[in-house]
Amino acid sequence: MSGAGLAVLSPREGEFLLEIGFGTGSGLAALARAAGPRGRVLGVDPSCGMMRRARRRVARTGHAGRVDFIIGDARRLPLAEGRLDGVFMSFTLELFPTDAIPRVLAECRRVLRPGGRLAVVAMSRAGNAGPYARWYRRLHNLLPGIFDCEPIMARRALEQAGFRIERSQAGKVWRLPVEIILGCKGESALDGQVPAGYAGTS
Ligand SMILES: C[S@@+](CC[C@H](N)C(=O)[O-])C[C@H]1O[C@@H](n2cnc3c(N)ncnc32)[C@H](O)[C@@H]1O
Repeated sequence: MSGAGLAVLSPREGEFLLEIGFGTGSGLAALARAAGPRGRVLGVDPSCGMMRRARRRVARTGHAGRVDFIIGDARRLPLAEGRLDGVFMSFTLELFPTDAIPRVLAECRRVLRPGGRLAVVAMSRAGNAGPYARWYRRLHNLLPGIFDCEPIMARRALEQAGFRIERSQAGKVWRLPVEIILGCKGESALDGQVPAGYAGTS
């Protein structure tokens, strides 16, 4: 499913790209391969353990020189404004508390250049999610430490953050609904602001 998200982002040679929540590093390795020797890739994740695993994976693929790892939080990206061509986030946005999602997406907008792309893969509760999704949500409410994702309305969250939606796909992982969304940073009245709310709870 992350592969489908990378395909939607369609990273190009020479681009400056960021993955938020890189986990074990398979996304970073794919981004580095696509960006090529003239490109540059950054990864932000708060976990030192994940960083060690991702570093080893990126090194094994021979792209170590193109990837920089940052221990950090997506709510406060330690990056300059308007520089990135693309941001990738796979199974990470739905880990944030609902009220933090606008802040994370505003940070993505801030660091992207005008016309830059954001690809999000996220567990979804858009539409009629079905019985497995209802069971998952019950488990999440009972055992949030284990079932730690709160499925979200990803497309709606990106729209509310001021992204223009370029593509929107539905998929499934372990029978649970997933959204794969590509947003583009156009000119927007929201530039430089965090939207007041995220209506994903309605
Ligand atoms: C479920 S894993 C997804 C890993 C990978 N993107 C994938 O699709 O396999 C979520 C990742 O988000 C990271 N994460 C958790 N909180 C974060 C935060 N505040 N900012 C950035 N990344 C975060 C976790 O450390 C973890 O690596």
